[in-house]
Amino acid sequence: MTAIETSPILRLTEDAQDLLFREARTANAFSAEPVTEEQVQAIYELVKWAPTAMNSQPLRVLLVRTPEARERLLTHMSEGNRAKTGTAPLVAVLAADTDFHEHLPTVFPHFPGAKDAFADPAPRAETARFNALLQAGYFVLGVRAAGLAAGPMAGFDAKGLDADFFPDGRLRSLIVVNIGNPAENAWFDRNPRLDYDQVVQSV
Ligand SMILES: Cc1cc2nc3c(=O)[nH]c(=O)nc-3n(C[C@H](O)[C@H](O)[C@H](O)COP(=O)(O)O)c2cc1C
Repeated sequence: MTAIETSPILRLTEDAQDLLFREARTANAFSAEPVTEEQVQAIYELVKWAPTAMNSQPLRVLLVRTPEARERLLTHMSEGNRAKTGTAPLVAVLAADTDFHEHLPTVFPHFPGAKDAFADPAPRAETARFNALLQAGYFVLGVRAAGLAAGPMAGFDAKGLDADFFPDGRLRSLIVVNIGNPAENAWFDRNPRLDYDQVVQSV
């Protein structure tokens, strides 16, 4: 590990840095230990504070809890994602609420025109997607903060899933996330990350 990776500049403890980033991995297999409602609530109560444009908070989370719903979900997953989605203790569908603007008078009250600014459905759906995806990233880190492993997946038929689980069209699925404690050999090999100089430039 290089010096910069354990920099004392960071305010999080080394353990927290490891839990959230360095040692956290994308799990592909899980133990049978269940994920409780209390754990999911604790995750939400933490990540809800992370920022979104105009405090719009368009993320919606569908916990797929029943065996019947899990079976239906599997029919929409791509082949390579089916086995792990079938055996994860908990699966969450992260979706964007295209009518998030209905909450703006409450969550952004100092700007009374906020709701009306999103009267047009097309840009509203784009804002919903953009900000819910940000929140999806926060959610994955929240799962890690609870000591659990996440397996986010974009490999599924979103149109089919939405027609099945969100038939009124208001919610649009973004990512499906497997959640639980990792099984042994839950990981693919760790792949390299881009270097600072490949990513960051100054003007
Ligand atoms: C938005 C998103 C979509 C992903 N989709 C899939 C997927 O469909 N199937 C899969 O096996 N892994 C998927 N992954 C997992 C990534 O490949 C994995 O997180 C990345 O390679 C880093 O792996 P690591 O955490 O083990 O280092 C996805 C991850 C993200 C964040």
